[in-house]
Amino acid sequence: MTSPKRKFPLTRMRRNRMKSFSRRLISENSFSVDDIIWPVFIIEGTKTKEKIDAMPNVYRYSIDKLIIELEGLISLGLNSIALFPNIASDLKDNDGSLALDSNNLICRAIKSIKNEFPSLGIISDIALDPFTSHGHDGVVVDGIVHNDLTLKKLDEQALIYANAGCDILAPSDMMDGRVESIRNILEKNNFENTLIMSYAAKYASSFYGPFRNAISSEKLTKPENKDSYQLDYANSNEAMHEIAIDIAEGADMIMVKPGLPYLDIVSRAKDQFGIPTFVYQVSGEYSMLTSAIENGFLNKKESIFESMLCFKRSGADGIFTYFAPYLLKELA
Ligand code: PBG
Repeated sequence: MTSPKRKFPLTRMRRNRMKSFSRRLISENSFSVDDIIWPVFIIEGTKTKEKIDAMPNVYRYSIDKLIIELEGLISLGLNSIALFPNIASDLKDNDGSLALDSNNLICRAIKSIKNEFPSLGIISDIALDPFTSHGHDGVVVDGIVHNDLTLKKLDEQALIYANAGCDILAPSDMMDGRVESIRNILEKNNFENTLIMSYAAKYASSFYGPFRNAISSEKLTKPENKDSYQLDYANSNEAMHEIAIDIAEGADMIMVKPGLPYLDIVSRAKDQFGIPTFVYQVSGEYSMLTSAIENGFLNKKESIFESMLCFKRSGADGIFTYFAPYLLKELA
């Protein structure tokens, strides 16, 4: 950008801002239903819509309830969802075995939803954490999340989810080599059109706290945190390195997570790679905004829409947000 030679009063920046029509004309970014991905929690059973303590107005739905909910939201323009399962603790184990069962909650949900709404895009995490007793995204051996053993499980999980009809597989585990490994298994099994959106720059963040409450995996045991695989929030070059590798390994889309505190990463990623870039407004961001809104400290509509426009301004092509149902109603 060239530095302006004309100065006040020849130039008055406020002239463009003075009226609503000219503010609309000069607006550089916009937000629409096409930008929204709804992350949604599912649970076993029927006719169930369960509250989540750490996330006001967010629920765990049984599959039948979710289908009813989706019908209304699709009529408002909902285009894609991301599914997250809440698994009973007695079904979890060290290896996350249930993740590899083609009749598990996620696979049944994918099939039922695809059956009802064939054109709705379905995204599913490839990671073991909802299914492991220790809450980690991989297999734990001698207190370490074992990279290569985990890859084998992720390949299998990816294959059964693709087979169930999942459109976008989203590896969220941060193991090394997982995108290539999953891409190869898909190619070998005639799933060459299944998309991979890698959680390429996923930080070890405290803002995931409420999500772990939602999927009942808040107590991490041995190791007590995810620092050995998720990114250090002090780093940004390392995130670019991760993203470059995931693209080379065959990712179609990449994601940065969390969202608002990490817009510098979104912006760098989009500038550097220019590929479809997504951002996840995570559970902690949702709960912070919601608490302030419920206390009357923030205006609901203005603060939520501002956060969306900030994502778009930073370069995001789409946003995972728990505000999706609210946004769809407001945009209608
Ligand atoms: C699991 C996963 C997490 C989130 C999405 N997938 C949590 C974690 O890595 O511990 C967080 C989403 C949110 O906080 O809303 N791999």
